[in-house]
Amino acid sequence: MKTILHVSCSPRGQAAESYRLSQAIIGFLLQREPGAIVVERVIGNGTIAHVDAAYAISQASAADVSREGSMAQSEELVRELEAADFVVIGTPMHNLTVPSALKAWIDHVVRARRTFTVGAAGKVGTLRDRPVFIAISSGGRFSGERARQPDFLTPYLKAILATIGLHDLTFFSVQGTGAGPDATAETRIGTHRALEEHFSSPRAHLQLGIG
Ligand SMILES: Cc1cc2nc3c(=O)[nH]c(=O)nc-3n(C[C@H](O)[C@H](O)[C@H](O)COP(=O)(O)O)c2cc1C
Repeated sequence: MKTILHVSCSPRGQAAESYRLSQAIIGFLLQREPGAIVVERVIGNGTIAHVDAAYAISQASAADVSREGSMAQSEELVRELEAADFVVIGTPMHNLTVPSALKAWIDHVVRARRTFTVGAAGKVGTLRDRPVFIAISSGGRFSGERARQPDFLTPYLKAILATIGLHDLTFFSVQGTGAGPDATAETRIGTHRALEEHFSSPRAHLQLGIG
């Protein structure tokens, strides 16, 4: 049985635009894998604490100094990620990049000697690659001709998830929610079209293992 890990990062919980978009992605995945289990990891409410001192010391040394606190939380989150066949991350853009809740999750799952190793060539991921879908909501626009702000969110996620071995990323977004409900409704239609196109494309068939 396949597992979909849903990491939802907005402080607005189920009312969030990014939550709505990630649910739409999960809907498409469930069409392909009707028996899949969805594991909900809600982090937008601040349930993941920042990493503690023992964890920070471990990251700067050649051995782990603790199995408790952040290290235990890290192990739980890494195992959850390892067990997932598909990962769906629903996130708003906060101050041009990921919200701090998602950064806290990243600090726990990107862990030396566990999800990456360091050698002469730099960091090498140890996780098996798998499809990761990222659902972004933003008040303004960060891509395309109408973008009026830099995007430190998508390049950052590409770089940091690649560090642990996750390269198969697909981004969808609802941008410009600050323009009001009518404009957002319009944007959702375009995003839904992009979802339909993606999930019926040869790339998605490869991604989802459909012959
Ligand atoms: C702390 C904070 C920072 C934000 N920074 C940005 C930003 O840099 N760029 C942007 O386009 N929108 C920004 N926004 C607006 C959100 O991205 C926007 O409201 C989004 O639709 C929220 O998505 P959600 O409903 O999934 O939480 C920010 C919102 C908050 C609360």
